Amino acid sequence: MSKLMSAIKVGPYEISHRVVLAPLTRMRAEEGAIPGPLMAKYYAQRTSKGGFLIGEATIAAENGNGYLGAPGLFNDSQIAGWKLVTDAVHAKGGKIFLQLYHAGRQSNKDVQPAGSIPVGPSEVLHGGVAYTTEGWVANTPNRALTIAEIEGLVESFRAAAKRGVAAGFDGVEIHGANGYLFDQFLQDGSNKRTDIYGGSFENRARFLLDVTKAVISVWGSDKVAVRVGPSGNWGDMSDSNPEGLFTYVAQQLAPLNLAYLHLIEPRIAGNIEDETKDQAPVASQLIRKHYKGLIIAAGGFNGDSAEAILNAGDADLVAFGRHFIANPDLPERLRNKQPLNDYDRPSFFGGTDVGYTDYPTYSEAKAA
Ligand SMILES: Cc1cc2nc3c(=O)[nH]c(=O)nc-3n(C[C@H](O)[C@H](O)[C@H](O)COP(=O)(O)O)c2cc1C
Repeated sequence: MSKLMSAIKVGPYEISHRVVLAPLTRMRAEEGAIPGPLMAKYYAQRTSKGGFLIGEATIAAENGNGYLGAPGLFNDSQIAGWKLVTDAVHAKGGKIFLQLYHAGRQSNKDVQPAGSIPVGPSEVLHGGVAYTTEGWVANTPNRALTIAEIEGLVESFRAAAKRGVAAGFDGVEIHGANGYLFDQFLQDGSNKRTDIYGGSFENRARFLLDVTKAVISVWGSDKVAVRVGPSGNWGDMSDSNPEGLFTYVAQQLAPLNLAYLHLIEPRIAGNIEDETKDQAPVASQLIRKHYKGLIIAAGGFNGDSAEAILNAGDADLVAFGRHFIANPDLPERLRNKQPLNDYDRPSFFGGTDVGYTDYPTYSEAKAA
């Protein structure tokens, strides 16, 4: 009996299997960071009856973007576009969470309002790229946020979460991973602050926890989730004690009774396997000791390794990124042990329907 294919309750929702669509930035939004019919088609293709999907990183504040073509919910004009997506998912019997994000220092002034300088916890020079009208370009050195601005961002996330209700989502995941703003506050390679947002674990986790509580005030705790990447180094990230830091974060999130905690295995740096690191899943194993609620594991899984981590009890669901890009019917393929389409990396970020909505299902591929 496959655990991967067994039902589970996520928050208030009965989910029919545990193959989750990972949040995947694809940069196909229309002018104004507004989702259009193409995005709705893409999500509908990846919806199975009773399946669980997480939407791509969605900009929560006007100065929160790092990628031209990424969608937003930082103003009301973006709600109707998202409603196309959530309606399409619901029509096929799926559930979809909104992923809210802020790129922080991982940005370039060309994707900032009025060409302003990107913001982050501290002024720390770093590598990393943004996507602008000029293509992939180096990030613009950022300035440090003031305390008043940080408090303002908490309100931006609360407002975006409210728009998520209007847009028809089923819940919200806060993107605390992959070197974006929350991760920049959490890890001490990027956070050099000496105020209440820097120094101790408690201070570095404050922004993430404040935003989590603000989003809970809108949605209720069982429809809110957090994603973190323990030991993630994507975006030039580093921490002097990642095990201690992420254990602390899990311990603080545990009593909030979230829908789930979403963990990225450190063997994946952003979307590339990091061959210098241990290839076994370790993040969920560590965090499970401190977190008894639902855990979604992500990063480098296939059907067999997903089944194994569920059977070991270290995670409750598994999110798939690249395999789900290339296989719109991934849950069915894993259920039937059918071969998978290969993914085409050059079409991951931006472009048209090519490499986006034109991957065939198993039966389409067989018929061709
Ligand atoms: C094209 C692409 C876009 C991604 N965008 C996001 C994103 O918007 N939010 C996020 O949390 N992770 C994002 N990720 C990371 C994935 O959610 C996932 O953690 C990663 O791909 C590892 O899983 P995989 O080995 O199954 O692909 C992205 C990955 C890829 C390949």
